[in-house]
Amino acid sequence: MGLGLALRFAVAGVPILIGSRVAGRAEEAAERVRAAVPGASAAGYENGEAAARAERIVLTLPFVGLAAFLRGAEALLARKLVIDVVVPLAVRDGFAALAPADGAASVGELIQETAPGARVVSAFKNLPAARLGDLASPLEGDVVLCGNDASARAEVAALVALLPGLRAVDAGEIANARYLEAMTALLLNLNRRYRARASIAVVGLPQA
Ligand SMILES: NC(=O)c1ccc[n+]([C@@H]2O[C@H](COP(=O)([O-])OP(=O)(O)OC[C@H]3O[C@@H](n4cnc5c(N)ncnc54)[C@H](OP(=O)(O)O)[C@@H]3O)[C@@H](O)[C@H]2O)c1
Repeated sequence: MGLGLALRFAVAGVPILIGSRVAGRAEEAAERVRAAVPGASAAGYENGEAAARAERIVLTLPFVGLAAFLRGAEALLARKLVIDVVVPLAVRDGFAALAPADGAASVGELIQETAPGARVVSAFKNLPAARLGDLASPLEGDVVLCGNDASARAEVAALVALLPGLRAVDAGEIANARYLEAMTALLLNLNRRYRARASIAVVGLPQA
């Protein structure tokens, strides 16, 4: 998911810093971005250093690693825009279900509670990584945003507007993250059933 978003934003001309638990892996991923997108500005660092260097941070790690990451980076996240893409899923016999998010109703809420100084926006949770990472494949659908800071949501909406084919839908407060995450479980089950790479689009909203 992280590499796909990095590729898409690099195409849009956004400078990219990639984080990894191992700096060398981040550098390799940055090289993949530079190779796929001529002229891209992309560099790789260990997670903590990448977070320290960035003002906007996109969290695309598996839920199982989130608590440890937050413990190490909580102070670094203060005042920063934190775009949460994490979904707590458990897949059993091919069926995707939501897993408990450590006592919070959603990962978005968990991150905001754990890092109260961060401006958390849950977003991109319903987009398939396989499509994002395939630059030949057009994107389509809505990116539903939720977070308690309206200016942070507007910042993410402006980022979504850089990605052709996607529309940002501002859903308001972070409590909506619990429904975004549940929809991802449904999408994964649909993908399995139809061998698809599905995303969502909301109809009936007023035009922006
Ligand atoms: N795949 C999708 O279509 C999709 C769609 C929507 C949302 N999401 C969510 O997006 C997040 C990333 O999904 P993904 O499929 O891209 O995940 P992934 O490929 O399994 O992992 C992404 C990166 O996270 C790091 N990582 C792995 N295990 C970790 C751990 N225990 N602690 C800290 N870092 C760890 C790894 O980088 P390093 O080893 O280099 O540190 C890995 O390359 C997940 O929370 C997922 O639920 C995925």
